[in-house]
Formats: sequence, structure tokens, C-alpha cells
Amino acid sequence: MKKRNLSIIKWVFLEAVKKTGYEADPDQIHVEKIKEFRFGDFSTNIAMLLANKEGKRLHEMAAEIVKHTKSDLFEKVEVAGPGFINVRLEQKFYTSEASEWLDDFDGYLKDFFNLTEKKRAVIDYSHPNIAKPMGVHHLLSTVIGDSIKKIYQRFGWEIISDNFIGDMGTQFGKLMHAIKRWGNMQEIEKNPIPALQKLYVQFHMEADKEVELDDEGRAEYRKFEEGDKESRKLWNKIVKWSLLDMQQIYDRLGVRFDHMNGESFYEDKMQVVLDEGRKQGVIVDGEGGSWIIKPDDPEDVPVLVRKSDGATLYVTRDLARIKYWQEEWSPDLMLNVVDVAQSFHFRQLIFAQRKLGLTPARNEHIAFGRMQFADGQMSTRKGNILLLMDLLDESEKRALTLVNEKDVELSDNEKRELARIMGIGSVKYNILQQSRTTNITFDWDRMLSFEGNSAPYLMYTVTRAKSVLRKAGLKPRDCRKHSLDLDLDIERKLMIQLMMYPDTIRRASEEFKPNHIANYLYELAQDFNSFYNGNSILQAESKDLKASRLMLTALTILVMEDGFKLLGLEVPEKM
Ligand code: ARG
Repeated sequence: MKKRNLSIIKWVFLEAVKKTGYEADPDQIHVEKIKEFRFGDFSTNIAMLLANKEGKRLHEMAAEIVKHTKSDLFEKVEVAGPGFINVRLEQKFYTSEASEWLDDFDGYLKDFFNLTEKKRAVIDYSHPNIAKPMGVHHLLSTVIGDSIKKIYQRFGWEIISDNFIGDMGTQFGKLMHAIKRWGNMQEIEKNPIPALQKLYVQFHMEADKEVELDDEGRAEYRKFEEGDKESRKLWNKIVKWSLLDMQQIYDRLGVRFDHMNGESFYEDKMQVVLDEGRKQGVIVDGEGGSWIIKPDDPEDVPVLVRKSDGATLYVTRDLARIKYWQEEWSPDLMLNVVDVAQSFHFRQLIFAQRKLGLTPARNEHIAFGRMQFADGQMSTRKGNILLLMDLLDESEKRALTLVNEKDVELSDNEKRELARIMGIGSVKYNILQQSRTTNITFDWDRMLSFEGNSAPYLMYTVTRAKSVLRKAGLKPRDCRKHSLDLDLDIERKLMIQLMMYPDTIRRASEEFKPNHIANYLYELAQDFNSFYNGNSILQAESKDLKASRLMLTALTILVMEDGFKLLGLEVPEKM
């Protein structure tokens, strides 16, 4: 496979290291762009790695590597700071990269990632609960999970999405009991979700007064678990209604799943897990006839996999899921994009799965924080449940106001379509642009603005770039035979930022963090805008310069559009 992009730089240094007689681990070598780029284009940590390993003086190590570095692609190589090695590359290097990139974008990225074997991941995200409206944490999981899926696909993996919907659990017993007691089937059929929601709330209110109600709900659930025909029928209806409701949200978000194996799918798949665990002696008797897996450290809590009354638990269904994933797909990686509040559950799950030997795959809990609303920004109309539909409506409405304020030549229909793309895109981008490991703030004014790190800003930038090529009557690929002229600082800066894209994808997938892509795109958009505002492209001083600038514009479009795809954003035609 051909070496491309930053891996060429890495390769040149690895060759130099070979000549010094030392050995470096390619996976630990990083090539980063230099912020103060008058010091060079890229810098590498290779000397630090080796000096540490060999116990040599950093400066000497760096000098030795530089002495052996030979490449006609490098205009300048020098030791900088405490022991970084900085390089500045010849224009011809950028030209040949840019042409190949424009010629075959997919192939270019594939060569860079250089996956030698087929890798497969399975991912669970979204997983709302049936018979309840989707919560904000489900929105976060949906948006983050879907982006991780797309990033992995881009990275060259096969990735299967399987939505572990919560379609079991005692809430069903309660709801079924409430339907029987206060519900009117005809009315529910008309508008199921709010009707069911009301009944659920009513149940909880009445249960405060009438303590027996909880027991009755549990009894109802037991009937269902034992396979009572009537409860099964009612349950089927509830599931069907809820799925229709969820589908509307998925359609608006443009999210699709390969599978929707909810908790009930595993009902008949838990017993073997339990039986095998018993046989292995991993699952043992706990208190009062329950079944548990003992922790390694006796101070820790055991994992309860079967209650004393014989009932299974959430963790038991998750264990059956892991066994099923393994048998069905034998993946290299399993991902669970779930609220940080469930960290304890996942620690127990991953521990139990390991003890039971259910899979050799790496299994990761991809945790994310809470959504924090800027004060007074979220109207929670129906009780204190925030309906996602309302949130999306509100975002599109605000986007339309923004579009109308702007002086754009669009028909009313085009404006509405743009507002839809911007509204949905802003909700997604706002989530993805923040690090998932901290709380995620939600602020309409910041999200829906043409300035700053926002979806409208990025969308505006890419349509701007596209209109340049449109005016020139070119498609990005048409610009591949040009040659780059990076005399101006901003041109060079833009090209260097473009070159960082493949490595950003790699990093985002390795860390399961779409915010690396989002923030990368924001920087790229800023660079492109400075380039665009400060220089004329179509009216450049010479034909060659115009061709070079068109090439930079074409690359920006390709990268921005690709990055948008990874974040699940649509690109508007005109703005
Ligand atoms: N349905 C659950 C909830 O809403 C989340 C499921 C998470 N996924 C999992 N594999 N446990 O809390």
C-alpha cells in the first residue's frame, strides 16, 4: 500500500531511526501540525520517545536522528524546543498529495489508515424505553453513537448497529395495570404516547396513596413474564405504538439501525448464560436463594444475576446480549454508548462477562455526561418531561428566524428546507462539538448563530466554498491536475490543516470522540474563511495562482463534506 499524508513523514523518520541503530514503535510516534508555523509545518515526538527508551540525552538523540534524515520532500528539518523535531515540506509534496486526494478520496484515506485485516465492531446506542417518551440522555446517545458509527465506517471498519431498546421491566406491569384500571383503549389508540404517559404518571400518583398498587403492578408483570396471552397481546401493542413514535424522531435525525434487538429479544437467551455460569462455578448461590457472581475483591459488591424469586435482571439481559453479539458477529470491538450514570452497571457487566468468558472482544462503555440547559431556555411543557419532538421543532423554528433575518435569495420552500437542515444540524453539532466526557451545555443563542463554533457557521463556510467552484464551473475532482503555490502564509496554513484530516479521523475513532472531528472542522472553516476573505480566488493575479487556489478550495469542500457526513450533518445547497 502506498504511504500517504502524515504517514510519509513518519516513515522518513523511521528510516532515519533505523540508520541510527535504534528502534522506535511506529504507533507511539505522533506527527502534529505546528501552531506557530513559521517554525515549520509539522513536528514529531520521535526523539523524546527514543531518548527515554535508550536513556540518552534528548538533544543528542534529536540531533542524531536529524543527521540521518534524508528526504527530498523535506525543505528543512531541525531540532526545536526541548527535543521536538520540526519539518517544513516542499510544495511538490503538497501538490502530489492534493492531486491524489482529489482523484480518489476514499482510496487516499484507505491508504493512510492502512488496515491490514478486516475489523468489525458492534455498537449499541439510542436504546430508549418503550412506553415512555425518549429522554434527553437518549438523544445524546443517539447523536453520539451514530457519529461514532460513521467515524468507524470511515476508518475502514465494518460496524453493525444494534439498538438495545428497553422493552421489558416492571414499568410495563405498572402501565398495563393502569391501562386496565383507568384506560380507554379507543382513546389510547388515537394518540398512544401521550395517553400512555398520562396513565403512567397517574399510576405513580395513585401509588403514593394506595400502597397495594405497586404490588398489583408487579403481579401484572409476573403474569406477562409467565407468558399470559392477554398481557402479551397488550404488550405487543404498546411496543408497536412506541416504535412508531420513536421512528419519527429517528427519521428527523436521519438515523438508521441495522438491528433493533431490544431487551425482550433476550428473554429466551438468558437461561443458557445462567446454566453455563452455574456449570463453570462462576455463578454461585447468593443471599436468600439468589444467584451471584463473586467479585475479585471481597469488599466489592457481587453481581446479582438472578433474584431470589427467580426473576432476571437488566444485567442478565445485557450478558445474554453480549453472548449473542459474539455468536452472531464475533466482533473485534463492542461499544455501548450509555449515560455515565450507568457506569456502575457497566463495570459489573464487563466484569461478569469476563468471568463467564462470553467474548474475547474488547467491550467498552462509551459514557457521556448530562445535558445542562442554560437557564430558562427549555420549556418543559408536559410535566417535567422534555419532549424531543418539541426540542427539534423549536430548533427548526429558531433556525427559520435566523434564515429570514439573513438576506438570502431563496424561495420560501428553500428557506424552510434550509431551516430544517440548520435546526437539526445545530442540535447535533452542539452535542458533538463538546467533549462527551463532561456535561454538555445547551444554549440556543450559541448553537444557532452564524458566528463561532456552530453548525450554521460551518454550513455557511462550505456553501461559500462550493459557490466558488460552481462559479468556475468545476467539480472538486476537476482541480486535481493543478499545482499548488503556497507562498502566502494563509495558503500554507490552510493546506497544513487539510493534511490533518485523516489523522483526526484516526484519533476520533481511537478515543471514540466525535468532538475531535467537529473542532477540526471549525479550525478548517476559520482557515478557509481567512484565506477566502483575504484573497481573491477567481480573480487571482495569474492563471497558475488561480488554479492553486481552486485546488485548495476543492480540497476544503471534500474534507468539509466528508466531516459533515461523519457528524451526521447535511450540507445545504445554497445559503
Ligand atoms: N434502556 C436503558 C435506559 O434507558 C439504556 C440501555 C443501555 N444499553 C445497554 N446495553 N444496557 O436507561
